[in-house]
Amino acid sequence: MRKSNIILIGFMGSGKTTVGKILAKNLHYSFVDSDEEIEKQEQKLIVDIFKEQGETYFRKIEHEMMQKLAQGEKQVIATGGGIIVNKDNISCLKKTGIIIYLKASPNHIYKNVQRDKTRPLLQVENKQKVIADLLAEREGDYLGAADIIISVDGYTPQEIAGQIQENLQRRDSMKEIWVLHGVNLNFLGIREPDIYGDQTLEDINKKICEYGRTKNIQTQFYQSNHEGNLIDQLQKAYYQNVDGIIINPGAFTHYSYGLRDAIASIALPVVEVHLSNIHQRESFRHQSVIAPVCIGQICGFGAMGYLLAIDALNSFIN
Ligand code: DQA
Repeated sequence: MRKSNIILIGFMGSGKTTVGKILAKNLHYSFVDSDEEIEKQEQKLIVDIFKEQGETYFRKIEHEMMQKLAQGEKQVIATGGGIIVNKDNISCLKKTGIIIYLKASPNHIYKNVQRDKTRPLLQVENKQKVIADLLAEREGDYLGAADIIISVDGYTPQEIAGQIQENLQRRDSMKEIWVLHGVNLNFLGIREPDIYGDQTLEDINKKICEYGRTKNIQTQFYQSNHEGNLIDQLQKAYYQNVDGIIINPGAFTHYSYGLRDAIASIALPVVEVHLSNIHQRESFRHQSVIAPVCIGQICGFGAMGYLLAIDALNSFIN
């Protein structure tokens, strides 16, 4: 089962609600506008919540609303423009949905919102400047959160919905590989750089993601310092029928029979990766209890090992 929700993010006035309604109708999904849900719940307009309780209060209830909406399935969710201000909103939504960024220019946005009195952050004299400044501040976060980016300038809402559907179909034909990182790998960049290099886990994941895209593969990342969490992810991968898994279990490699049994149970193709060449290091690292249940092990090539693992899995799956 692939992720079923479709989440539209973007600046106010980029067309999330209008496009979302068309998309939901075309796909036979339900449509939810998170701002409207908040207004219903609080029995107040967003602009009044901002005025009376302040932005911090609004962001708090907005986050609670995201957690609630993430429980549902087959929904097109139009989110508020400031959703990316809280990174936890994105990670919560990403678990159950595909995030689509409707990318609009400041001019396009201005045309759509110039006469709108309901936008709390635009109750100012110089709307154009506020839009340009706020968009510049948020653009990086929208792009970083998005699985799909759609430029909306010059297109009708119907055309934009059509482009989203084409993208989703293309994505459906993509393979899905999960990349699991175990204990202490969140410390890459800090821990023993002479052995593990100076790239952070985020840098490495970004490279894997970009490489995967060139091979028509979607990647999803997970890191935990806790054995049980990694086992839960492996079992989840089974239920979600992913195409393959790349795992660097960190030190769990050498002694976790729990991880080994989880990999053996799910019967999915798994490639074990290590940044360092574990066979050249201390003797306790020479043994992997994981390797016998994987299709192969790649070690000693630094972050490139993950890209080699993508190729290895890809040829194994095809
Ligand atoms: C590692 C090798 C392990 O022995 C070590 O405990 C790690 C990292 C690697 O990627 O080289 O945490 O998995």
